[in-house]
Amino acid sequence: MTRWWSLRWRMAVVATVFIVFLTNPVRSQPQTNVLTQSCSQVNVINFQIFISNLNDTYRDIRRQLSNNNTYFATSNVASNSEPVYVMAQCRKYMSTSDCVRCFDFAASSIRSCSTFNGARLVLDGCFLRYESSPFNDQTTLPGENKVLCDNSTSSGQSVFETTMDGLLSNLSIATPNINGFYAAATTPVVGTNTTTAYAIAQCVETVTPDSCKSCLQAAYANIRSCTTDASNGRAVNLGCFMRYSNTAFFRNNQTFDIAPFLRVGSSSNKVVIIKGVVGGVGGVIILLIVILWWYGRSKRTTPGGGATEVKDSKDYSYIDLKKATNDFGDENKLGEGGFGEVYKAILDDNKVVAVKKLKVGHTGAKTGFENEILLISQIRHRNLLGLLGWCSEGSNLLLVLEYMPNGSLERFLWGERKGTLNWRKRYDIILGIARGLAHLHKEFHVKIVHRDIKSSNILLDDDFHPKIADFGLARFQPEDQSQVITKFVGTLGYTAPEYVRYGALSDKVDTFSFGIVILEIISGRRCTNENFDGPSTDHLLEHAWKLYENQKIVMLVDETMNVNPDEEKHVMKIIEIALLCTQSPASKRPTMSEVVLMLSNDPSYEERQLTRPTLPDQNRRIHIGSS
Ligand SMILES: *[C@@H]1O[C@H](CO)[C@@H](O)[C@H](O)[C@H]1NC(C)=O
Ligand SMILES: *[C@@H]1O[C@H](CO)[C@@H](O)[C@H](O)[C@H]1NC(C)=O
Ligand SMILES: *[C@@H]1O[C@H](CO)[C@@H](O)[C@H](O)[C@H]1NC(C)=O
Ligand SMILES: *[C@@H]1O[C@H](CO)[C@@H](O)[C@H](O)[C@H]1NC(C)=O
Ligand SMILES: *[C@@H]1O[C@H](CO)[C@@H](O)[C@H](O)[C@H]1NC(C)=O
Ligand SMILES: *[C@@H]1O[C@H](CO)[C@@H](O)[C@H](O)[C@H]1NC(C)=O
Repeated sequence: MTRWWSLRWRMAVVATVFIVFLTNPVRSQPQTNVLTQSCSQVNVINFQIFISNLNDTYRDIRRQLSNNNTYFATSNVASNSEPVYVMAQCRKYMSTSDCVRCFDFAASSIRSCSTFNGARLVLDGCFLRYESSPFNDQTTLPGENKVLCDNSTSSGQSVFETTMDGLLSNLSIATPNINGFYAAATTPVVGTNTTTAYAIAQCVETVTPDSCKSCLQAAYANIRSCTTDASNGRAVNLGCFMRYSNTAFFRNNQTFDIAPFLRVGSSSNKVVIIKGVVGGVGGVIILLIVILWWYGRSKRTTPGGGATEVKDSKDYSYIDLKKATNDFGDENKLGEGGFGEVYKAILDDNKVVAVKKLKVGHTGAKTGFENEILLISQIRHRNLLGLLGWCSEGSNLLLVLEYMPNGSLERFLWGERKGTLNWRKRYDIILGIARGLAHLHKEFHVKIVHRDIKSSNILLDDDFHPKIADFGLARFQPEDQSQVITKFVGTLGYTAPEYVRYGALSDKVDTFSFGIVILEIISGRRCTNENFDGPSTDHLLEHAWKLYENQKIVMLVDETMNVNPDEEKHVMKIIEIALLCTQSPASKRPTMSEVVLMLSNDPSYEERQLTRPTLPDQNRRIHIGSS
């Protein structure tokens, strides 16, 4: 029990997301004023290997930044079990030595995150980020998009506001067109003798000009809200940074003439300028080089399979989706779930996707639809089914989703492909689902409780990696409690007792359902009694609990798995975790981040004494759900 608390306490302290404060930053030289800091919520598995990799990449980054005129560096160690990808960037007004000092400060501050597999830290002078998967092309993550207005220092001049707004707007337009994605500029504030507007904009150097542009557009939209009341402001995101002040934070000879870069059509602009200067055959050769360089750049930045990558989703037309699904024909129908029918669709570019026609539960749904969709489309994780786009025309609300050829987990547990998954695969599926849920609960500024975790909602890709479907969709359903209960009748066996009874919703509702899914994966049986062919007709949880009490829990294991003795030990441990997930009251259940730790077998938690799962009698009745 004590280890439990120390774990919770550590997580609470270390994972304090967004430490934000603003103190007189302009003067301090390495500019180590912390703007935002966040740690990912997923623990590393092998801490020793991870830290050693992290130290190696830090050394490499530091060496790169120690070169004159190097303000941006990436490095990675991806060859072993704990891959580390690191990126660091300094503002270009910093001297080389200040840049290195800023980086050193960042690297030591971020050590407080080092039990987690990702961290981001933005300072005035520099930016440092590490992750366990590549993120070079990433510019935005919802929770990382911040604006910091220093309201204590109002300029009190509307002319300052207008001038600053113009300068920031110009910077956000020009910077993506500038090689190196950085610009600093000043403008005198007309009508005052002494005031000057100072501002900079910068993008990380591995993104495309278009991504830099959209990141800065969002930053500009945020930061301009500061200019009314604050003479200092900053907009922070993962891929870009803007800052303004009425006080100099870079030297006057470090500014940049941005006027030539303000015109639209950035890249062609650059080519024309170079050609104009050089001319003739040399010009043609340089033009070719420039074109190849651009081509290489955009090639390099095609998205990888990052854990938390964010891409744009698309607004599709109804006509196109109708055509792609053969007029929503029966032969294209993949299934029907609580939220609507799902069809296989082949788009014009021959890409195969799934299209879900939403049945919306209430008339107000349409108004909230696009906002919700924008939110859901921001959520990218390898264990969450990706939303590729949507369509909202008239009363038609459709989602365009990743297509999963292997279908749902159900098929492999008791459906047509029963018995094809060995323990290794089942364990990986369990861990993947836990990671996906932990991400939904923790990684975003809006906590999303799935509410309907069940085996038919877990889809498998070609490599049997699980992806959770239908997350975020519960938000379209009516909030009214009685209707909630009606809605969950079909999947009652998965639903936590406090939710069935009182509609009490928390992330622990998902923890409960996840525990039931683990039991299904291990036993190869559906949680509700109707399909049991074994000796027991109890609900699966009741059945598992009886076996556990009688020390016969090994009988729960699906015989088709043929586990060896080592695996059997592991399976027993995972069953205990499943039982812990299904305890009541909800406060006794672990959060999904804690579940990921337990499942990952972190050696430092190995000796943790799991409290023996107990279900108080009056609650046990409710656990049986449908009875
Ligand atoms: C990594 O670096 C930190 C700080 O410099 C040091 O305390 C730690 O021992 C190093 N760890 C490894 C495994 O190299
Ligand atoms: C950087 O520039 C300074 C002065 O311009 C010079 O003394 C130093 O050797 C340079 N360092 C490197 C690593 O090039
Ligand atoms: C600063 O001003 C902005 C814009 O007026 C406002 O949204 C924000 O809440 C203010 N912040 C503080 C700390 O007062
Ligand atoms: C922004 O750019 C426009 C077009 O070049 C220029 O007229 C304007 O003065 C600039 N604004 C500021 C504040 O620099
Ligand atoms: C600017 O300075 C002049 C004299 O140097 C003074 O008369 C005038 O009032 C000042 N204007 C402002 C806006 O401070
Ligand atoms: C910029 O100004 C500083 C002093 O203000 C000077 O030391 C430095 O050499 C100047 N840099 C350039 C490139 O002119």
